[in-house]
Amino acid sequence: MTAVPLDSFRRELERLLADAEAALAGVADPASLEAARVEFLGARSGRLKDTQKSLGGLAAADKPEGGRRFNEAKNAITACFEAAQVRVVGGAATAAVAAIDVTLPGAPLRLGHLHPLTHTIRRVQEIMGRLGFESVDGPEVEDQWHNFEALAISAEHPARDPLDNFYLAVARGADPLLLRSQTSTVQIRVMENREPPLRIVSLGRVYRPDTADATHYPMFHQVEGLLVEPGTTMAHLKSVLRLFASSFLGGDVRVRFRPSFFPFTEPSVEVDMEWGGRWVEMGGAGMVDPAVLQAVGYDPDAVSGFAFGLGVERIAARRYGVDDIRDFYRNDVRFLRQF
Ligand code: PHE
Repeated sequence: MTAVPLDSFRRELERLLADAEAALAGVADPASLEAARVEFLGARSGRLKDTQKSLGGLAAADKPEGGRRFNEAKNAITACFEAAQVRVVGGAATAAVAAIDVTLPGAPLRLGHLHPLTHTIRRVQEIMGRLGFESVDGPEVEDQWHNFEALAISAEHPARDPLDNFYLAVARGADPLLLRSQTSTVQIRVMENREPPLRIVSLGRVYRPDTADATHYPMFHQVEGLLVEPGTTMAHLKSVLRLFASSFLGGDVRVRFRPSFFPFTEPSVEVDMEWGGRWVEMGGAGMVDPAVLQAVGYDPDAVSGFAFGLGVERIAARRYGVDDIRDFYRNDVRFLRQF
């Protein structure tokens, strides 16, 4: 097969370009614009496509020059088509843009905000801060001393059961570690390192292998409060809790103690709060057991203290009227947007 001469290929391109320019200059409506597009730029049988086939028939030495000229023609036809397009349909597009009245009020802009639990934690820290309690943090991975022993939870105590805790795999012979099951660990960490008087509050995550339901979740948050000063009594505990509750919930709140037991407080109580005509259990509290004060090197004859631990999800649910704590973790924006 003889090669297509470069000259005739060039003439073919010129003819194609002239025809396309003439045709596109004449289109006046979308239908003829589309017809011209199919005739010249159509991907299957457009004339540009046919000419590309002739390009393949050029002698190898002529192909670079032929290819360059083909691309020039293709760009020129495309530019012509785009100009025709703006002329034929661009008017309609411009009219649509003009129809937007920029002086009308815009759609409301949705900004992100803090998660309700984060917001609750900050509120608690702020209220307790006003009562003189300093915010402190502790680790979520704990040893048995801080999670149990120093809190007078003996080795046989059921609270240490592997079924009730998330123990971590550690090297053989190493001390067992676990995800803390309560924030009371922080009481010990602080008392070990500081001398009384103390007023601290610690908010953070705790872990227990509970099945998730409306009131349980395997990870939740606690507020731990601790005050150690000479002469501290249960009356101080109750008034701090009442002041906290009325600031947090707003308005009239009553606090009720029910006798209970915790290994690290004596006496121990369950704390209920009444707000809006309903009593809800909020957590546990009591006077720090003298054995605990001794374990951290304090003199139980010189100082006494109280401690309390409240569920952050519970107080947040009460405050916001949420009746399933799983909602706090579903991260459904329709829920989160309400706060
Ligand atoms: N740590 C206890 C719990 O998780 C609550 C508590 C804290 C009780 C402080 C008494 C004093 O159930």
